Amino acid sequence: MNKDGKKVIFSGIKPSGDLHIGHFIGALKNWKALQDEYECYYSVVDMHAITVRQDPAQLRKRSLSMIAQYVACGLDPQKNTFFIQSHVPTHAELGWVLDCYTMFGELSRMTQFKDKSAKHADNINAGLFTYPTLMAADILLYQTDLVPVGEDQTQHIEIARDIANRFNGIYGETFTMPQAYTPKVGARIKSLQNPAEKMSKSDENANACVLILDDPDTIMRKFRRAVTDSGSEVRRGEGKDGINNLITIYSAITGLTPEQVEAEFEGKGYGDFKTAVGEQVCSAMRPVQEEYRRLMASKDFLQAIYKEGAQRALSASSRTLRKVYRKVGFVDR
Ligand code: TYM
Repeated sequence: MNKDGKKVIFSGIKPSGDLHIGHFIGALKNWKALQDEYECYYSVVDMHAITVRQDPAQLRKRSLSMIAQYVACGLDPQKNTFFIQSHVPTHAELGWVLDCYTMFGELSRMTQFKDKSAKHADNINAGLFTYPTLMAADILLYQTDLVPVGEDQTQHIEIARDIANRFNGIYGETFTMPQAYTPKVGARIKSLQNPAEKMSKSDENANACVLILDDPDTIMRKFRRAVTDSGSEVRRGEGKDGINNLITIYSAITGLTPEQVEAEFEGKGYGDFKTAVGEQVCSAMRPVQEEYRRLMASKDFLQAIYKEGAQRALSASSRTLRKVYRKVGFVDR
């Protein structure tokens, strides 16, 4: 809770690739619904991005583009704090302290670490291994109550809770215990080409992933090519990952329940349905893309947003860091 009694929200996205509709449905769309009730901090977590090699110019461009996409998705910069992680040094500072309260065995069990080490076998760096402690620092620095994320991040929230618990157990109440907050529909949007896997910005098949900034023709083409099973009815079912995923996307974008979606497409085939999903996604992305282009043309405005955000984030997070430093026995500065 913050000093005005509002609950605190923290979340972040890595600028390691372009944002896709999984981010929109699993994260950004839900963040918008929280901005009036909570004190919200949203970070572009560039320090997390470098656990995998990045092209420096691309990383810089994407980080800025991401701030513009946050705002274009309807997040009001007056109501939310947006900042770039590397601009707020308390994250690295608390990250180090928490490294010393996190066990090697716990980190070894993280699925993301196992997946990424398999995928980037030539670069299994220490940052990839301690990624979850930096993420715990991100969250715990703001005395966060809720962390709105997709399903793939729940294991990371669990370890952040374990670390907080351990620290509080040794030194007394220091960190608020955060909770994951996942959407009811769309917590795991799947790849359009391999619907057994989640939609991911690092997918090599461009048709697997619909980007927030894709033009309407591209969006329509990707949906028309989406992989479905051999059936024909627009109905969810065991082993029908492709159609289940498309129903989830349609449902999340329109606000209809999956049952209502099935009723709407009763008697229609996969072809009609894929076109309808594509059209809904195009019309949801149109205003976002228009606003994005407008924002990218005013770099000063964007810079003012992330500079002011970094100041607010530094001020809030420094209170927690000071408390932690005192508790572990560091001399006051
Ligand atoms: P990242 O950058 O991979 O993803 C950002 C957010 O989007 C969600 N998401 C999805 N949701 C539904 N379906 C999908 N296919 C899909 N793909 C991504 C993710 O669950 C996430 O909520 N470790 C984090 C970044 C991070 C963070 C944090 C998040 C760093 N520090 C502190 C919360 C709090 C990550 O890699 O997310």
